[in-house]
Amino acid sequence: MSFSVSGTGSAYPALALTNDALSNMIDTSDEWISTRTGIRQRHVLKEESLADLAVTAGEQALLDAGVEAAELDLIICSTLRGDFITPSLSCIVEKRLGACCPAYDVNAACSGFIYALDVADGYFARKKAKKVLVIAAEAMSKLVDWQDRSTCVLFGDGAGAVVLTEGEDLLSIKLSANGDTDVMAIPNVAGNFPDAAGGADPYLTMKGQEVFKFAVSSMCRDIAEVIGEAGLSKDDISYVLPHQANMRIIDAARSRLKIAPERILTNIERFGNTSSASIPLLLDQMNREGRFQKGDILALSAFGSGFTTGACILRWSRGRSFAPRYQMACD
Ligand code: UT7
Repeated sequence: MSFSVSGTGSAYPALALTNDALSNMIDTSDEWISTRTGIRQRHVLKEESLADLAVTAGEQALLDAGVEAAELDLIICSTLRGDFITPSLSCIVEKRLGACCPAYDVNAACSGFIYALDVADGYFARKKAKKVLVIAAEAMSKLVDWQDRSTCVLFGDGAGAVVLTEGEDLLSIKLSANGDTDVMAIPNVAGNFPDAAGGADPYLTMKGQEVFKFAVSSMCRDIAEVIGEAGLSKDDISYVLPHQANMRIIDAARSRLKIAPERILTNIERFGNTSSASIPLLLDQMNREGRFQKGDILALSAFGSGFTTGACILRWSRGRSFAPRYQMACD
């Protein structure tokens, strides 16, 4: 027994920060950002909390699935950092949704949503859960240095959610991790013990080109592996939903894998890199647009700090949705 995706949801902050607006804050340009990354804007938390986004995404996914919060057996949130170190984002979401079930966070950076799907799969396999809510919610705007043009232009805030119910639609899944604090990291430097070591900036640092190379090779490797493990071939894949980090990474992986451009789904132009929220945000957008048909085979692939990677093959067993069923609450 694994699971089926019964509902999706997403939310993002009201404030859209365009490349042109960013160019008024730091030494950059729409031309540089869009040609190097494909990003035109990102949404940034100002009035809302991260929990607001997570709850809205969760509510929408529950509505879409026709599941009540009280029916949930488990809530897992993927996040780099919630509004609090403790309680977890999941606990806050649980209370605000009116659920009554175990709730905890996982952190596998940008691969966190796929890690959370794998965790959820274990609960279904052990028959410990029938209905699970997985939310990936990220406030990258609070983790980047807004003076550092090499990183802050890349990221945005958002949340995506899925309701999982008993089913057989997770056809394969693969995770990996490889500890490294040199290429991409965010130091945890809080504390006030007198004379304790510290001093690092609490912001994201990254060697962009190393991440780029890792991203392309790991996506190609992981997608090929999960397709093989599912007993499928590349031609069986209806759509690939890659982590939305850089359009050039996505294009390079696509061309190496020899997958037709129309089978690669993206929304990076509008949201930038929302870390682990990027794939479920894209999944929800495509679901609401009626992109998927019953029986479609989806390949999800993510990579991130750690390095971590995650990829899986999901069968879409819901029908097609022809109209938006709800408005994005944060529009
Ligand atoms: O979830 C995982 C997240 N991380 C990633 O996916 C990162 C993967 N890497 C990348 O996407 C790319 O490496 C970047 C988009 C980060 C950078 O692109 P690049 O083509 O590797 O550029 P670069 O770092 O080699 O920088 C080229 C130039 C430099 O100037 P000089 O030294 O050639 O004079 C940078 O200072 O571009 C400059 N630069 C900028 N210029 C205008 C760096 N950032 C900016 C900027 N605006 N925002």
